[in-house]
Amino acid sequence: MLILGIETSCDETAASVVTDVGTGEARILSNVVLSQLDEHRPYGGVVPEIAARSHLDHIDRLVKQAMDEAGVSYKELDAVSATGGPGLIGGVIVGVMTAKAIALTHSLPFIAVNHLEGHALSVRLTEQVEFPYLLLLVSGGHCQLLSVEGVGQYKRLGTTIDDALGEAFDKSAKLLGLGYPGGPLLEKAAEKATNPDRFKLPRPMRGRPGCDFSFSGLKTAVRTAAEKLPPGPFKEEDLNDLSSAFQTAAGETLVNRCTNAIKMFKEDHPKGNTLVVAGGVAANKVLRTRLEVMAKKNGFSMVAPPLALCTDNAAMIAWAGLECFKAGKIDNLNFAPRPRWPLDPNAPKAAFAGGKKA
Ligand code: KG4
Ligand code: ZN
Repeated sequence: MLILGIETSCDETAASVVTDVGTGEARILSNVVLSQLDEHRPYGGVVPEIAARSHLDHIDRLVKQAMDEAGVSYKELDAVSATGGPGLIGGVIVGVMTAKAIALTHSLPFIAVNHLEGHALSVRLTEQVEFPYLLLLVSGGHCQLLSVEGVGQYKRLGTTIDDALGEAFDKSAKLLGLGYPGGPLLEKAAEKATNPDRFKLPRPMRGRPGCDFSFSGLKTAVRTAAEKLPPGPFKEEDLNDLSSAFQTAAGETLVNRCTNAIKMFKEDHPKGNTLVVAGGVAANKVLRTRLEVMAKKNGFSMVAPPLALCTDNAAMIAWAGLECFKAGKIDNLNFAPRPRWPLDPNAPKAAFAGGKKA
């Protein structure tokens, strides 16, 4: 099966052609990603209107580039998929309308992919991971623990009651003046720490039952610690040590929450032994290592997509589209883009959540 995927839900315009070569094994024939970082950098975050316009400016060219690099024609495609949500609605509309137009013109089936399902299944692009598995989905907009039972079948075990972890990385980096996007810059600063134990930051939710998260207090603690530093521009060593303290606190919190999640997952799946980590924050090497050690201690193996497939890309949207297609989940051209789209619609609202997060 040969499929084109389109991703436009946030600040990356992306197109990719993926095939399963008939054997179930994936091959990425092209994977084009155009980041809008430079356009949003002056504002210190993603500006939805700028994002939508930029997707519109570039999507046609990127789709053509993905098709050319894959060396395939539209006639050879079996389907076309696009992120149908959740995300910034202006961008999602651009991707969905482009995919629908291609589907209509070339009489192809159209599949609207849940962006979170793209992340959830992305590991199966490069690794042989069977259902069910425990998933830690950590990105800029989401921080959840899910039991992945199959395509379209998710049980949410825990979620954040306030900020997502990527959001906490970005906001902490911003208040330290490290720049945008914060995650990778904060990771780089932490690598250079000379006194990583100097700042004591909280481990939110540690020791509590269940596996919900909370990160807004950690971000506030970074601000408080930064305010106590001598007046004037931050010294580089202070920034490095504080970044390291943040990353350590984030890592220990993830380890604690995932340990509980493994126990919860095993109640339903006694033979389950795989933890998948996906989403942009999964590109963080320190966090990956900590989770790997924790998983091993609990008799699990940890698997994560290669770094380039952790952050937003269209190969994961093509792959999820392919998996949905094979499971008979095809959409029609009436599909309406969805700003919110939880993977587990039956999940109860997280305790204490202000109604902000899915
Ligand atoms: O999955 P993604 O590309 O977009 C969303 O769906 O949100 O995730 C982006 C998030 C951002 O918050 C970014 O700062 C974070 O992932 N991120 C990282 C790293 N690389 C990206 N966070 C920590 N360490 C990294 N190396
Ligand atoms: Zn994402």
